[in-house]
Amino acid sequence: MKLNILVTGCSTGIGKHCALRLKEEGHHVIATARLLEDVEKLRAEGFTAFQLDLDSSESIQTAVQQTLEYTQGRVDALFNNGAYGQPGAVEDLTRNALRDQFETNLFGTIELTNRIIPVMRRQGYGRIVMNSSVLGFVALKYRGAYNASKFALEGITDTYRLELKGSGVEISLIEPGPIESDFRKNALAKFKANINTEQSAHRSTYEGVLARLEDGDPKSGAFTLPPEAVYQALKKALESSRPRARYYVTTPTYLFGVLKRLLPTRWLDAILSRSSG
Ligand SMILES: NC(=O)c1ccc[n+]([C@@H]2O[C@H](COP(=O)([O-])OP(=O)(O)OC[C@H]3O[C@@H](n4cnc5c(N)ncnc54)[C@H](OP(=O)(O)O)[C@@H]3O)[C@@H](O)[C@H]2O)c1
Repeated sequence: MKLNILVTGCSTGIGKHCALRLKEEGHHVIATARLLEDVEKLRAEGFTAFQLDLDSSESIQTAVQQTLEYTQGRVDALFNNGAYGQPGAVEDLTRNALRDQFETNLFGTIELTNRIIPVMRRQGYGRIVMNSSVLGFVALKYRGAYNASKFALEGITDTYRLELKGSGVEISLIEPGPIESDFRKNALAKFKANINTEQSAHRSTYEGVLARLEDGDPKSGAFTLPPEAVYQALKKALESSRPRARYYVTTPTYLFGVLKRLLPTRWLDAILSRSSG
C-alpha cells in the first residue's frame, strides 16, 4: 500500500535517509526541514518538501496545512524524527538551554502529533512513529537535557498508546543507539553555544568530551550503525499489522534494555557511568 508519510528533520542523517528510502518504495513522502535552504535542496532532489520548524507553532500549523492540501486531507503516517542533543552536566544547564531542548524534542513534536491525530482518527487509520533513543530509557552523564526530553517523549508516547486504543491509530517508539549522522556535530555546536565550561566543576571532563565530539568521525563508535538500521525498524512499524510499542536498534539498546530489567540501579549506574565518556 502506498502511504502519505510526513517526516520531520529531513535535512540530514536519519530523517534524510528514511525519506529517501520511503520515496524509493513508492510512498508519497512529505519531507520537512527546519531551514528553507534545506527545503529547497529536498525539492531539487524531487521531494515534496515543506518548511517545518518544531520550535514554532506557526511553522507547524502552516506545514500541516500545506501537507493536507497536497494529500487531499489524508495522512497515513507521521515519522517524528527531528530533534537535537544539548550536551552538558545538568548543573551547567541554563533554564533557557533546557527549555529549548524540550521545545524541539518534546513540545514541538507533540504539537505536530496533536494536529495530525484528528486527521488519523477521521480516517480510522494511522501510524505514528517516534524516533526516541536508548537514552529514552537509560541515563548517561552529560546528556541530562537530552535524556530528560527523550524520557518524556517515551512517557507521553506510552500515554498516547493507551488513549489511542481502538482508534485505528498505532504509535511506536524507535530506540536507536549510535547512528551515523550529523547528530554529534550539531550537539557540539549546542555545547559550545550554551555551556559555560570556564565556570564549571566539570571543566576538566569537558575537555575530554570536546576532544571526542570534535573527532568528527561519525563511524568512530564501535557499535555505530548506518541510518538504514533505523529505516528497517521504521518499515516494520509502518507495515506490521500489529506494530510493536518499541523497536530496539543497535547492540547498546538491546544490551541496556536487558540490563535495565535485570540489574539493581547501583550496578546499572556503575556500567552507565563507565559508558558516559
Ligand atoms: N544519531 C544517533 O546516534 C541517534 C541515536 C538515537 C536517536 N537519535 C535520534 O534520531 C533523530 C534524528 O537525528 P540524527 O541522528 O539524524 O541527527 P541529525 O543528522 O542532527 O538530524 C537531526 C534532524 O533534526 C532536525 N531538527 C533539529 N531541530 C529542529 C527543529 N527545531 N525543527 C525541525 N527539525 C529540527 C535537524 O534539522 P537542522 O539540520 O535544520 O538542524 C535535522 O534535520 C533524532 O530524534 C535523534 O534524537 C539519533
